[in-house]
Amino acid sequence: MMRIRCSSSSSGGHGGHQLILCWLVIACSWVAVARAQAQKPAGATTDPVEVAALNTILGRWGTKPPKTWNITGGDPCTGTAVDDTDIDNNPIVNPGIKCDCTFNNNTVCRIVKLRVYALNVVGQIPAELEKLTHLANLNLMQNYLTGPVPSFFGKFPMQYLSLAINPLSGPLPKELGNLTNLISLGISLNNFTGNLPEELGNLTKLEQMYIDSSGFSGPFPSTISKLKKLKILWISDNDFTGKIPDFIGSLTNLEDLRLQGNSFQGPIPASFSKLTKLTSLRIGDIVNGSSSLAFISNLTSLNVLILRNCKISDNLGAVNFTKLSRLNLLDLSFNNITGEVPQSILNLNSLRYLFLGNNSLTGSLPDVKSSSLNNLYAKMIFSIAMIYSFHTFVILGFLQRFFVQPTHGKLSFMGYQ
Ligand SMILES: *[C@@H]1O[C@H](CO)[C@@H](O)[C@H](O)[C@H]1NC(C)=O
Ligand SMILES: *[C@@H]1O[C@H](CO)[C@@H](O)[C@H](O)[C@H]1NC(C)=O
Ligand SMILES: *[C@@H]1O[C@H](CO)[C@@H](O)[C@H](O)[C@H]1NC(C)=O
Ligand SMILES: *[C@@H]1O[C@H](CO)[C@@H](O)[C@H](O)[C@H]1NC(C)=O
Ligand SMILES: *[C@@H]1O[C@H](CO)[C@@H](O)[C@H](O)[C@H]1NC(C)=O
Ligand SMILES: *[C@@H]1O[C@H](CO)[C@@H](O)[C@H](O)[C@H]1NC(C)=O
Ligand SMILES: *[C@@H]1O[C@H](CO)[C@@H](O)[C@H](O)[C@H]1NC(C)=O
Ligand SMILES: *[C@@H]1O[C@H](CO)[C@@H](O)[C@H](O)[C@H]1NC(C)=O
Ligand SMILES: *[C@@H]1O[C@H](CO)[C@@H](O)[C@H](O)[C@H]1NC(C)=O
Ligand SMILES: *[C@@H]1O[C@H](CO)[C@@H](O)[C@H](O)[C@H]1NC(C)=O
Repeated sequence: MMRIRCSSSSSGGHGGHQLILCWLVIACSWVAVARAQAQKPAGATTDPVEVAALNTILGRWGTKPPKTWNITGGDPCTGTAVDDTDIDNNPIVNPGIKCDCTFNNNTVCRIVKLRVYALNVVGQIPAELEKLTHLANLNLMQNYLTGPVPSFFGKFPMQYLSLAINPLSGPLPKELGNLTNLISLGISLNNFTGNLPEELGNLTKLEQMYIDSSGFSGPFPSTISKLKKLKILWISDNDFTGKIPDFIGSLTNLEDLRLQGNSFQGPIPASFSKLTKLTSLRIGDIVNGSSSLAFISNLTSLNVLILRNCKISDNLGAVNFTKLSRLNLLDLSFNNITGEVPQSILNLNSLRYLFLGNNSLTGSLPDVKSSSLNNLYAKMIFSIAMIYSFHTFVILGFLQRFFVQPTHGKLSFMGYQ
């Protein structure tokens, strides 16, 4: 019964009573787990400075720590904190910690991971966090944390940092460039100001960078060219200016690149043709500079290709779409694309969503279409609304005029001329 209440409270809104119930469940289950498994070295205890800091932090955030987190008696590094429970997707263990108890010849435990996910925590990031000197994984996602990211964050041996979906503000501290072990940086949907610090170019182990909708402006730093391991780069919906950086085309491990909704100038660099591992590419809202389409010809892994409002002036025939056989969603709308719709697009077996509206296409549509493009009408309205909900402005009624829809068993363009 309590377990059910607890998990429902963490997925929906959660009042204080439910939170306390959660703590009881956590406390009870930790005692049980601690009895069942004793994976930490016998006699190891948590650094008292860290215990005090942890209790203070959770106190400041209005979350009561469970009884097992007792400075004088209990020890937070027990149970799920030291066994192999996955706390990332575990609503019961939230807030949750993980400890490493191998310090000082297996006598001292230190907190290496702290997760306070979607608990409606209100307030600033407490100064006491600095005491958790061995934090490698910090997830404070989806709370109501205000104020700046402290510069002491640069001192952690951090590998995974997620502060996404908070109203954190101020400039991002350049000290984050000292987190040279960082693999994933997630700060999407915050309220930062100023430039993205060029020091982030020192994070050469970084594989994932989520900085969309974060409030940044100014040039996108050229030092990011050093992040050769990047697989995911989401920078949409900021106010980055200047030309779309040519160097992005040298980040050849990229699989998912999103840069809509900025003030980038075109053209789309030809170097993007080297990003052959891309499965998802989303570019939009380019300010000026006429782009061509040829660069997509070699991007044969693409599932999702959105080049909406990119000032593309090219003939659709410039691309052999047969090679883009994995395409599921293709959106080339709001450009100046000329020529006829080639049969090869409509033959794509995986293609489900096709948007070619607001271009200068001519001629009539080919008759034959792949079966996956059937009956798209209803699905399209729904899915395009989801796809664009974060980054662009969609008027649903208007949409009907520029997608392909089946009419009497045939395809036709609505509002196509
Ligand atoms: C903490 O531990 C001490 C000593 O074991 C005990 O006296 C005290 O009641 C405990 N406090 C809580 C809140 O459990
Ligand atoms: C570490 O602990 C083990 C077991 O308690 C002991 O035998 C060993 O001498 C210790 N090593 C050091 C370097 O203190
Ligand atoms: C974001 O910052 C601006 C000022 O830079 C402020 O007006 C606005 O209220 C902030 N939004 C939130 C959600 O804190
Ligand atoms: C951390 O970053 C700052 C500013 O980027 C730099 O001045 C400082 O030397 C760095 N500290 C360490 C320990 O690397
Ligand atoms: C980090 O980046 C800055 C600015 O890009 C640079 O001046 C500094 O030397 C770099 N530090 C290290 C340790 O690489
Ligand atoms: C785009 O606009 C910027 C500033 O408005 C201008 O400096 C630049 O020359 C323009 N580029 C092109 C290709 O028109
Ligand atoms: C695509 O790849 C081929 C073979 O590697 C190369 O010759 C061609 O120039 C590439 N096309 C584009 C547009 O980059
Ligand atoms: C398009 O690509 C397909 C698959 O690579 C190839 O078989 C076909 O000959 C190409 N068509 C043209 C016109 O280049
Ligand atoms: C669209 O393309 C045509 C032909 O390439 C060109 O003449 C025209 O200027 C372009 N229009 C815009 C708005 O770019
Ligand atoms: C897009 O196309 C529709 C239908 O042809 C037209 O009414 C609308 O003005 C166009 N919008 C833009 C921004 O070009």
